[in-house]
Amino acid sequence: DIRKRQTMKEQQNISWLAASLAAKLGEAPDVAVVLGSGWAERADGLLDGIERFDLNDFENWPLPRVQGHAPELRLGKLQDTRVLLCGGRVHAYEGYTAAEIVRPVRAMIEWGVKNFILLNAAGSTSESYPPGTLMALADHLNMGLPNPLTGPNTPTGQITFVDLVDLYDPTWRAALTATCTDVKTGIYAGMLGPSYETPAEVAMVAQLGGHAVGMSTIPEAIAAKAAGARVLAISMMTNLAAGVGGSRPNHQEVLDTAAEHGKRASEVLKCAVLAAAAE
Ligand code: HPA
Repeated sequence: DIRKRQTMKEQQNISWLAASLAAKLGEAPDVAVVLGSGWAERADGLLDGIERFDLNDFENWPLPRVQGHAPELRLGKLQDTRVLLCGGRVHAYEGYTAAEIVRPVRAMIEWGVKNFILLNAAGSTSESYPPGTLMALADHLNMGLPNPLTGPNTPTGQITFVDLVDLYDPTWRAALTATCTDVKTGIYAGMLGPSYETPAEVAMVAQLGGHAVGMSTIPEAIAAKAAGARVLAISMMTNLAAGVGGSRPNHQEVLDTAAEHGKRASEVLKCAVLAAAAE
C-alpha cells in the first residue's frame, strides 16, 4: 500500500544519504553536532584540521527554506575526538515532515554516529534564566512538534512504543554541568511555530514546569534515542519568552543575544564535546 511504499522510499533516502556521507567523509565521527539558530558561529575555531562539505552536494539532505548560513558540514578534531558540525537544520514550521526533519540524524546513525549534540535558541519562561543562560535539557514537553515515530515516518514502518525516560543522556549532561558549572538544567517545551508563543501559552508552559520554549530539537532527539544513539541537547536562552517581563520576542534579538553571549557558548560547546567520553 501507499504507506508501505512511503516507508520503503524513506529508508532508501536514509541509506543513500548514509552511503554518501561515508563516501565523501570517510569513517563516522565520534560526535555529531546539530547547530541551531545562533550557534553556527559559536562553533568557529572549535575544531582543528577542518574539512568543509556543501550540503547541496548531498542529494537527500533537506535544506533550510529560510536564508541564513551556508548549509555545510564541517569535519575536524577536538583533541582526540572526531567531530562533525552540521549546519542548516530544518524545522517543522518550514513545512517539512517529521521524516524529513530527522533524516540526517537517521542517516548519520546508519553511517555509525553514536553521540549527538543538539543545539537550539530558546525563549526563557522566567527571569531566573535570563538571556544568555545556557541550559542542558533534562527533559521536554512536546507541545506541537511532529513525532518521527508515527506511521510512515519510521524507517521500518514498524510502530514502536519507545521509552523516553532519560532521552537526554543523564551521564553526559552531568559530565557537562560538572565542568561548566554555570550551565543550568531544565525542561524545554517544543512548539510548532513559526509565530512566537502567545503570552498565555508561555504562562501555561511556565505553570507546567517548562523553562524554555523553542521550535526544534525534539524530533531529532526522539529519532536518535529510538535508534539507540545518545543525546545531549543545549538551549541558549536568547530572550525572555512572550509576555515574561513584558517581552515581545523578535528574531533579530535572538541573533543579537546569541552573538553577545557567543564566547561562553563556544566554551560550553567545547566542554560538551569533551564530555561525550563520559560513560
Ligand atoms: N520562542 C520560541 N522559539 C524561540 C524563542 C522564543 O521565544 N526564542 C528563540 N527561539
